[in-house]
Amino acid sequence: MTEPPRPPRRKRYRGTHPRRFEERYKELNPEKYAHEQAKVRAQGRTPAGTHVPVMLKEVLAALKPTSGQVYLDCTLGFGGHAQAIGALVAPAPVIGLDLDAEEQARTRARLAALGIELHAHHGNFAGLAKVLKAEGIAGVDLLLADLGVSSMQLDRPERGFSFKHEGPLDMRMDRSRGQTAAALLAGADEETLARWLSDFGDEPKAAVVARAIVQARALRPLATSRDLAEVVMRALGINPRRYKRQGPGDTHPAARTFQALRMAVNREMENLEQFLRDLPWVLNAGARAAIITFHSGEERRVRAALQAGLEAGHFSEAELAGQAPQSREVFDNPRARSARLFWAQRAV
Ligand SMILES: C[S@@+](CC[C@H](N)C(=O)[O-])C[C@H]1O[C@@H](n2cnc3c(N)ncnc32)[C@H](O)[C@@H]1O
Repeated sequence: MTEPPRPPRRKRYRGTHPRRFEERYKELNPEKYAHEQAKVRAQGRTPAGTHVPVMLKEVLAALKPTSGQVYLDCTLGFGGHAQAIGALVAPAPVIGLDLDAEEQARTRARLAALGIELHAHHGNFAGLAKVLKAEGIAGVDLLLADLGVSSMQLDRPERGFSFKHEGPLDMRMDRSRGQTAAALLAGADEETLARWLSDFGDEPKAAVVARAIVQARALRPLATSRDLAEVVMRALGINPRRYKRQGPGDTHPAARTFQALRMAVNREMENLEQFLRDLPWVLNAGARAAIITFHSGEERRVRAALQAGLEAGHFSEAELAGQAPQSREVFDNPRARSARLFWAQRAV
């Protein structure tokens, strides 16, 4: 007797239990799920794969862009600032720089579709002379550095920037060079780890977390974002299985450690210091520069450099206090809460 054919297997309904990152974050595919982006923004979140420019109104007021000015965006990212400033300096192009070549390819296509002319450079703002040389110019009229990491970088689990997604502990903005976070974590001594946590993460329990990392890695390497997040939470007396965010303003217990490690991996303070040394020399007479910081160490360095520039007569005017975003912006985009805007004008 022949067996009756087996009924076809029921198709798994992927809508309620999305298994892949692209399914979970439908807004990553705006053509297919156009309404998702608006819905996510209305909830005060940033749609995955995008980045909301921070303090845009204040940046425009500080830079005062006008048609024909030479604008250098040192941290192109998603191109949110570049898009707004590019429209004002047109027909002059935007000169855009970023360490991250992967996201830059997407930004280039996005800005091209909006009719913004972009001269994109892959590189470090600690080497601005190279960009000026490649462009064949001696200086720029407008410059912006919006420090740190973009929402798109945080959103991609394979980049390892976020404690929210499981992924390899990489954290390099430029994946073509340098040591990954996993390699750095494996090799750094306890004292160095504690210093990074304290200086770059403002972690009040830096010594406790550093000790926990050293003990955990002696048992097995910390290879993924979850490995690290769990070690940090246990060190701080929090059960990772039971942890629940209290509200939108609640900082995840591992956030400070992840920030510190990211800054160490990408040598962010060294890059910023070099950028600040070069700043007066890449600006044309009367040029305006704006810098957005997200961390007390960055604020300190930017303020000191602008103050020194004023005293030396390189700058005629500068914002040294660090302007904070308006509460409405922080409500709409919680990532803006630690942003501070500094700016300076090059003496004529
Ligand atoms: C906060 S995001 C910029 C977002 C952008 N202003 C926008 O509106 O989309 C910071 C960007 O700076 C880049 N970056 C960080 N350090 C850098 C460096 N030393 N040189 C060049 N780019 C850097 C990061 O890769 C990231 O794309």
